[in-house]
Parts: sequence; C-alpha cells; structure tokens
Amino acid sequence: MNTKIVKIDENNIDQNMINDAGTVIKQGGLVAFPTETVYGLGANALDKIAVEKIFKAKGRPQDNPLIVHVASLNIEHLVKEIPDIAKEIMNKYWPGPITLIFNKSDLIPSITSAGLDTVGIRMPSNIIAKKLIEASGTPIAAPSANISGRPSPTEVESCIEDLFGKIDYILGGNKSKVGVESTIVDCTCTPLCILRPGVITVEMLREIDPNIYIDKSIMSKPKDDFKPKAPGMKYRHYAPKSPVKIISGDLEKTVAKINEIVQTNMGNKKIGIIATDETKSKYPYGTVVSLGNRNKLEDVASNLFEVLRGFDSIDVDLILSEAFEEKGIGVAIMNRLKKSAGFDIIKV
Ligand code: TXA
Ligand code: MG
Repeated sequence: MNTKIVKIDENNIDQNMINDAGTVIKQGGLVAFPTETVYGLGANALDKIAVEKIFKAKGRPQDNPLIVHVASLNIEHLVKEIPDIAKEIMNKYWPGPITLIFNKSDLIPSITSAGLDTVGIRMPSNIIAKKLIEASGTPIAAPSANISGRPSPTEVESCIEDLFGKIDYILGGNKSKVGVESTIVDCTCTPLCILRPGVITVEMLREIDPNIYIDKSIMSKPKDDFKPKAPGMKYRHYAPKSPVKIISGDLEKTVAKINEIVQTNMGNKKIGIIATDETKSKYPYGTVVSLGNRNKLEDVASNLFEVLRGFDSIDVDLILSEAFEEKGIGVAIMNRLKKSAGFDIIKV
C-alpha cells in the first residue's frame, strides 16, 4: 500500500493537509496522527470495516478494545449514561491525557469495543488531533501507532518505522509532550478504578473521588489467571528486542549492582544501561542512555519509549534499567518499565 507522509507545523497548521487526512478517515482509511500522549493510528470508530483494518495493520489481538477519540464534550450519543463524577473529571481534565470508560451506546460497533459493553473515550488536547477529528466528522478509534508489542511511538519517525506501507496516511507533528499513554479510569463502577496509570495521577484524581484506586493486577507480575479490567494490560508490551532487567532500591546500591552485572558479563555480553542524569557518569562500561533528570519525571516519561526503541538499533544483549519511586508520575513510568522487562526485577 502507498503511505502518504506529510509533516505539519503545529504553530502554523495547513488546513488542506488536515482536510486531506480527514477525507481518508471518512472514506474508511487509516491515518496515523500525533496526540499529546503518543501517536495514534486512527479510523472511523463507527465503521466496522475501517476499524478491522487497524487490528490488521498493528497485528493487534481481537480481544483488545480501542479508545474512541472525540473533539467535544458532547458524547451523549456514544454512551448509555455519564455519571456525575465522570462529568467532573471531563470538565477538569478534558481535553487531555485521560480516557474514561462508559457503558457504550449501540452506535459503537462491537469490533471497536472488542465485544465489551463498555467503551473508552478520550478528548485529546493536541491541536492536530482535534482538527483531524473535526475534519473527519466522526469519532476516531485509535490505538497507539505501533506494531503490537513494541513501545508506543512518540515521534513520527517511529510511526513510519512501524507502519509505512501498511496504512494510508501519516500526519506528522512534534514529539508527543507527555510520552506515556493516557490514564484510563473505569467510570462504570463505584468507587472509580484506574485501569492504566498515566500523567493524570491517582493523587490528582483523589481530589475528585477520594476512594479511587488502581487495579491491583496491573503493577505486579501477572498470574496465570490474570484478568485485568483493561484487556490490553495483559499482553507483553513496550518491549525492545533485547531483554530488560530492572534494578530497584537505593540509588547508590542500584548503580553498584548495575556495574557489578556489567563487569561480570563483560567478556560475553554487550550491555545497555538506562540511567538518569544524576547517575549516567557513574557507569564506566556499557552503552549508557539517560532518561533525564530524576527530579523531572515529566521528562523521564516523555523520553521513555524512544529510549526503549533506541536500543533496537544498537547492538546489545541485555538492557539494565534503574527504577523510579512509584509515586505520582512514577507509577506510570514503572508500569511501562515493568511490562517492558516482563517483571524481571532485582531488588537491592
Ligand atoms: O494515550 C492514549 O490512550 C493513546 C493515544 C493514541 O490516544 N492510545 C492508546 O491506545 O494507548 P491503546 O489501544 O494502545 O491502549 C488502549 C488500552 C488497552 O489496554 C485497552 O485494553 C484499554 O485501553 N481499553 C480500551 N477500551 C476499554 C474498555 N472498554 N474497557 C477496558 N479497557 C479498555
Ligand atoms: Mg498501545
């Protein structure tokens, strides 16, 4: 398939390009586009044949539902009801990096929700995403624009790498600001439940629902009967080609442990190290990449996926990563890191 690639300046948007991409969506095609979290792979959420193409292009399991992206707060036609507490979240955080799960209306085809009675809806704040949804005249179903299992793309080059030749159109914008996918909140239950942590944190959401909690099954190693409420959370994800191991605990001990593993394996293994600005100079051997400053977890989140992807183009046999405290945005960062490591963690 011919894939058309265009790059748009977010500060000076070319409406003709947006209209072009909107027409592709209207006609049942696939368009990759930027959002503030990660790039998405979009199709008309209400057209089951178009949505089927998303699963095919990504190699996505059929039981993994898609998030529906909208450009306005008027979502009454897509859902059965909007609980008052969900309205509060929408008013405070939409547009923005948070997806809410509602009971779905009959307008949402079963393939979009992977056979569930619920649907996840999000109103992105990225200006290109907003304009594309408006130009399409329909809600857009969009998973992250990567081949299933790989780290989500936060730069257009990564979308091109994964999806060129498989989709109709790639709309390029800037690097995604947030860098990890949206927080997902199930609004069909009381209290509310977080199905995927993101940069809108549990601490922030407790101001609206003091009893909100994070689905326990997603932060620890999955058991055989593991059934997270977000089906996608059970799949191996965010994984570079080489295995990842996390070293967790006191930072000085972490550095010492990583250096010990590197030195023990120096003769037979090339090792990559995921470090931070505070520690990067403390690793004399190995390929060292920094995620950024530990005091700026927003930066760490926004660099995480491209750092993981980057190791695929460097020849390493093993990747050792420092850990982060599971507080605030650290919860989202550790959720993605643990999944990329298949929960292989050494505690020091
Ligand atoms: O930030 C984001 O949310 C990005 C951008 C493109 O908007 N999208 C994204 O989509 O991360 P995806 O498909 O990569 O992840 C969607 C997650 C999956 O884990 C899926 O199982 C869950 O959302 N999900 C979707 N609909 C759901 C539903 N009705 N009930 C429970 N989980 C749902
Ligand atoms: Mg994804």
